[in-house]
Amino acid sequence: MKKERYLITAALPYTNGPVHIGHLAGVYIPADIYARYQRAKGRDAIYICGSDEHGVPITIRAKKEGKSPKEIVDHYHRLIKKSFEDFGISFDNYSRTSLPLHHRTAADFFKKLYDKGELIEKETEQLYDEQAGQFLADRFVKGTCPKCGYEEAYGDQCEKCGTSLSPTELINPVSTLTGTRPVLKKTKHWYLPLDKYEDKLRKWILEEHKDDWKPNVLGQVKSWLDEGLRPRAVTRDLDWGVPVPLEGAEGKVLYVWFDAPIGYISSTKEWAQKTGKDWKPYWKDDSTKLVHFIGKDNIVFHTIIFPAMLMAHGDYILPDNVPANEFLNLEGDKISTSRNWAVWLHEYLEDFPGKQDVLRYVLTAIAPETKDNDFTWKDFQTRNNTELVGNLGNFFNRVMVLTNKYYDGRIPEPGTLTDRDREVLEEIRAYPGRIGELIEKFRFRDALASYMKLAQLGNKYLAEEEPWKKIKTDPDRVRAVMFTANQIAAALAALGEVFLPFTAEKMKKMLRLDEQIKWDRVAEAEPLIPAGRQIGKPELLFEKIDDEAIRRQIDKLHRAKKAQSGSDTAPLKEQTDIETFGKLDIRTATIREAERIPKAKKLLKLTLDTGAGPKTVVAGIAEHYKPEDLPGQKVVYLANLKPVKLRGVLSEGMLLMTENAEGKPVFISPDEPVPDGKQVK
Ligand code: 2FM
Ligand code: ZN
Repeated sequence: MKKERYLITAALPYTNGPVHIGHLAGVYIPADIYARYQRAKGRDAIYICGSDEHGVPITIRAKKEGKSPKEIVDHYHRLIKKSFEDFGISFDNYSRTSLPLHHRTAADFFKKLYDKGELIEKETEQLYDEQAGQFLADRFVKGTCPKCGYEEAYGDQCEKCGTSLSPTELINPVSTLTGTRPVLKKTKHWYLPLDKYEDKLRKWILEEHKDDWKPNVLGQVKSWLDEGLRPRAVTRDLDWGVPVPLEGAEGKVLYVWFDAPIGYISSTKEWAQKTGKDWKPYWKDDSTKLVHFIGKDNIVFHTIIFPAMLMAHGDYILPDNVPANEFLNLEGDKISTSRNWAVWLHEYLEDFPGKQDVLRYVLTAIAPETKDNDFTWKDFQTRNNTELVGNLGNFFNRVMVLTNKYYDGRIPEPGTLTDRDREVLEEIRAYPGRIGELIEKFRFRDALASYMKLAQLGNKYLAEEEPWKKIKTDPDRVRAVMFTANQIAAALAALGEVFLPFTAEKMKKMLRLDEQIKWDRVAEAEPLIPAGRQIGKPELLFEKIDDEAIRRQIDKLHRAKKAQSGSDTAPLKEQTDIETFGKLDIRTATIREAERIPKAKKLLKLTLDTGAGPKTVVAGIAEHYKPEDLPGQKVVYLANLKPVKLRGVLSEGMLLMTENAEGKPVFISPDEPVPDGKQVK
């Protein structure tokens, strides 16, 4: 059956940090080009996304920043949404999974599987952090990967080898909350029996889609299926997420990877509500082509787990394709939020205002389509200066300048066209098909390269024809040449909209191409810009980027990383001796009570259990900790410090603390339980 409706999705970004160039290159730009292309083809296509606001990374970030998860997601949702808008990512809807609409949609989905008997209820022993009083799902636990031996693997996935894990598979697990060794404790959860869908998945992907899905995706699917699928828990013991809609499931939420892909459905519903359309055909009519754009770390979720959920549910279509990209590195190193090794979109725009298309261009040209690729600032500069300024910008500007100079900006009547002119005009008409075919195959780098060939053709044509020389001797010839060159310029404006939307808009404005030009219109014989049309004045499309701007970016990267890793540590103090140290009586204690001190913004009054009765200490941590969160916190403190009065409170010691990478004071506490009052020596 002919597919006529396109539902294009891009992975919902976690709202635990801003978005960077890796996100843009891997997911949002390719999906945007695809969506813009489908719309230009006149197809019914919607591009759907939203913020992924649940999951452990968000609660971890919240803890780290001393904020609530809600504060974190509100902040990053706004920032991310704005970055996407600023870069012209043309979502038809950008939703968020904290919306009641999503909670309802996800809960109903779960309930339907439950009612159909598609879920297995199981009581198992799970890792539990006794100190934090909490089960350790997913990223709350780290340990050694049983597959590859990587020591920093998370409870849900090893980032080194990509294996998906469950916490109990980790060797030497450690709680990321308290650093303690977890114990096993019984708890009940619901599992989706992936094994039940193994044969169906194999047939659907490895047979039916063996020729149209990308090799990197097929490879991962095959290795998963060859290993054999097992039931997978779709609920968690957490207090942040979509509550499990069953009686007796209090304190449990849906696994974030269960609710997040349902976010595609709820975002489509939200779009339908806003536009007065019907969302159902997009998800239920098998003439819809559902295409998920993702990064390689999301492959298993979009090819195995979400499709198995959809199969179990029964009312929905399956994806037609899952074009996953590999990773983009930065200056030879893996992009990392925690190490601050990234180019953040909002910061890029501060440094290069108005240059969204330069980044869009470079990220498309180097997109990690078949293997990991590297972004370097030097390459960014070279591509801008030679390809955008030197090729595309140069051609377009020459056409504008010459048309204005020779004809006061009125497209000339071509008169007699030569074979060469006709050949060029015919060549233009081949481009929509050529570029379109590459886009349909998700080969966006090649599609962009093909587009740039059209500008090259324009430059070559002008260089051969030299209108600036012939204008005196053969003005008739120049009319034909400038008419033809303007057709190339108009085609660049029309086709450029999918790659470089801001630039294409400028080009269209200059050429007074006010109407929306459909993709296939460029392939028609009728000239895109008619003789006699008055065009505007030339304006530069791109400008050179100098060495200084590039050096500043490279310095900034290294500075940010250094600050993050804490490598700009304070210089060592003058040497001391053991006797001097021995005069300090440092001891363990537990905070029993904490309260604010009136009119002292930074100070908290703490009552410590010291093993020898309570003691009061005043600590300057009120901006980072809430008093109600502190009782039970293990600390070490200087016990024989001469008491001093601080804001009217007698402080009988001093807490010993250090700082995390963000400069927040953090407690030093023994990594195994010890009684209060033990000496630190
Ligand atoms: O990897 C991520 O950033 C996830 N938040 C992607 C979710 S995609 C979808 F399923 F929602
Ligand atoms: Zn591993």
